[in-house]
Amino acid sequence: MECYRTHYSTEVTTAQHGCEITVAGWVQDIREMGSIAFLILRDRMGTLQVTMLKKKLDPELFKKLCGLNRESVIAVRGTCKPSDKARNGYEVIPEEVEILSEAGTPLPMGVVDKVGVDLDTRLDNRFIDLRKEEVQAIFKIRNRVIEAAHGYLRGNGFIEMHSPNIIGASSEGGTDLFAVQYFEKQAFLSQSPQLYKQTMMATGFDRVYEIAKYFRAEQHNTRRHLNESTAIDLEMAFVRSEEDVMGTLERLIRHIWDHVADNCTDELSLLGVSITVPSLPMRRVTYDEAVERLAKSGVDIKWGDDIGTEAEKLLGDLMQKEGCEFYFITKYPLEAKPFYAMPENGMADDRYARAFDLELNGVEITSGAQRIHDVKLLEERITAKGLKPSDFEGYLKAFRYGMPPHGGFGLGIERIVMNMLGIQNIRECTLFPRDRMRISP
Ligand code: 4AD
Ligand code: MG
Repeated sequence: MECYRTHYSTEVTTAQHGCEITVAGWVQDIREMGSIAFLILRDRMGTLQVTMLKKKLDPELFKKLCGLNRESVIAVRGTCKPSDKARNGYEVIPEEVEILSEAGTPLPMGVVDKVGVDLDTRLDNRFIDLRKEEVQAIFKIRNRVIEAAHGYLRGNGFIEMHSPNIIGASSEGGTDLFAVQYFEKQAFLSQSPQLYKQTMMATGFDRVYEIAKYFRAEQHNTRRHLNESTAIDLEMAFVRSEEDVMGTLERLIRHIWDHVADNCTDELSLLGVSITVPSLPMRRVTYDEAVERLAKSGVDIKWGDDIGTEAEKLLGDLMQKEGCEFYFITKYPLEAKPFYAMPENGMADDRYARAFDLELNGVEITSGAQRIHDVKLLEERITAKGLKPSDFEGYLKAFRYGMPPHGGFGLGIERIVMNMLGIQNIRECTLFPRDRMRISP
């Protein structure tokens, strides 16, 4: 430890009892009782009690501290004394207290108050909202999810890449792009690293991944969409079919769940969540089977259409009754998937694609596919989607001089965290959400 502190609150052990320590953090509460005052100091790890004795401190400082606004930042040097009554089994008797930053008053929202505030107020004051331990828990878990992904993928021969976020043409074929002025030209913010991770398959780096940013100008304002989201995106070459990609995905998911279960016991119990590490293989349900099951439950989907949110939720309920939290939906109609998805038999007019989604409790967390690697077929599919191959020349070129069969997926990080923890609104799973109405803070 360095700087203003020697210890975090919950790190202090009996070995420090009787010793001098320095702690620093936010003043959560102060109770003055004449010649003694109890100050609760909060840091990243938890809270501790500072017991201020009037006779041991400069009287001016004692007075000042007793009148200090909540959430001010202080550093305390003092003796660590065992105490049955204090939290953590010790208290700090200060010899020196330094006020590092005084908080204004009133606070825009409370940190420990029992009264709830609405999500907008919380997001408007995210820096305070994030001082709450249950909110911090979400981001500590998110951090472990990403740590697990890096660990698993690097351990399995994937190399991390960073693709450009300023792009010249749409990567998913859709219209949901944010336009940006790029000198004399029109450019866009990337919807996904799709075209670049595929391009990497032509380089010899045959396994790549990226913790990617997706920028999507989707107009709708839902509980599970953000206009700026984050994903674990990967691409792998020399696959025989989408099954090879699905195998990697399910092993990655199992590793993430394992890692969170092992490393986030405190955070999970604080949030009242217990998670079950999925057993493999995960269930595979074809699109046709899904449509049929839904029809039996009274929900009709026109063959070829996407499975809408409500139907997806219902399918999730049906699958949960069979003990499946996770399941793949496979063999989508070709028309329902982007131009780069491999047709089932390699023909431009095939009925099905080698494409899949991974669902968790009725919410899509991943889309993936084997991709087309034959440039003629790719041009045909781009045209069939009403797009112009000439707009994709930079991408298509990489397919003309030796491109191995490949596939990959995009796994939404906020979607993982949201569904792993049973959080209702995806905005809670990103620090500073961007949605239809919000661009600040
Ligand atoms: O299903 P999507 O759009 O697929 C792709 O982007 C492909 N390029 C992936 C591939 O490699 N074939 O996005 C992938 C995942 C979704 O399943 C979802 O988890 C997340 O990214 N996602 C979003 N999360 C929050 N808000 C949004 N607007 C999202 N869009 C996608
Ligand atoms: Mg998708």
